[in-house]
Amino acid sequence: MAGFIVAIDGAAGSGKSTTAKGVARRLNFFYLDTGAMYRAFTLKYLQEKSVGIGEPVIKRLLQETRIRLEKEGDEYHTYLDGEDVSLKIREPEVNRFVSQVSAIPEVREWMVHQQRRIAKDKNVVCEGRDIGTVVFPDAQVKIFMKADIEVRARRRKKELLEKDIDVDLAEVMENLKFRDQYDSTREHSPLRVARDAVIIDTTNLTIEQEINLVEKIVRARLKSL
Ligand code: DC
Repeated sequence: MAGFIVAIDGAAGSGKSTTAKGVARRLNFFYLDTGAMYRAFTLKYLQEKSVGIGEPVIKRLLQETRIRLEKEGDEYHTYLDGEDVSLKIREPEVNRFVSQVSAIPEVREWMVHQQRRIAKDKNVVCEGRDIGTVVFPDAQVKIFMKADIEVRARRRKKELLEKDIDVDLAEVMENLKFRDQYDSTREHSPLRVARDAVIIDTTNLTIEQEINLVEKIVRARLKSL
């Protein structure tokens, strides 16, 4: 069977990336990290910013953009126009601008098109902000993950440290708050809970518990088909 979609949405640090990766691994599904795609385009945008950033420039940039997501061993890599940008897209500069760039309607339209193309005929665990609401409104499973801001900030700091990026906890927290606010209130496809999503609060859950829970939900749904 192909074409089974698990949509996982939630704020930054809610646990969705780790859970999505873990579930994809256990079920042998393709893992589609849409945040990495927005981050990669933000990187390109920041590199080109000097030429002015009106709508025509954004459209031209999008036309010239190629984003690939590859699994290499146990690691996931993001390629922007052939270059491995997996680390660069996690840098503070990208964190600062990614929400604004993601709010541009042309960017969202392009991303949604690419995401549907990538997922076509595959079994996919797809994570982001608008997956269950906009990208795959017919997804067989929809999960919305949330957690307390402080817990999310600590998790994000730990993740960054593992990539040798050292940022103050206060700075991480400020960025999360800013992005939460921006991503939830933007005009186009804001972060919100899909009507038929299962809400999971991960504040007091371990990664193992999160993955087990979502895996159980997915397996139950697979069985019911
Ligand atoms: O999941 P993340 O932190 O890597 O996402 C980075 C940013 O990308 C997030 O702050 C908002 C944007 N984003 C989005 O607007 N829609 C998505 N489906 C995924 C990410």
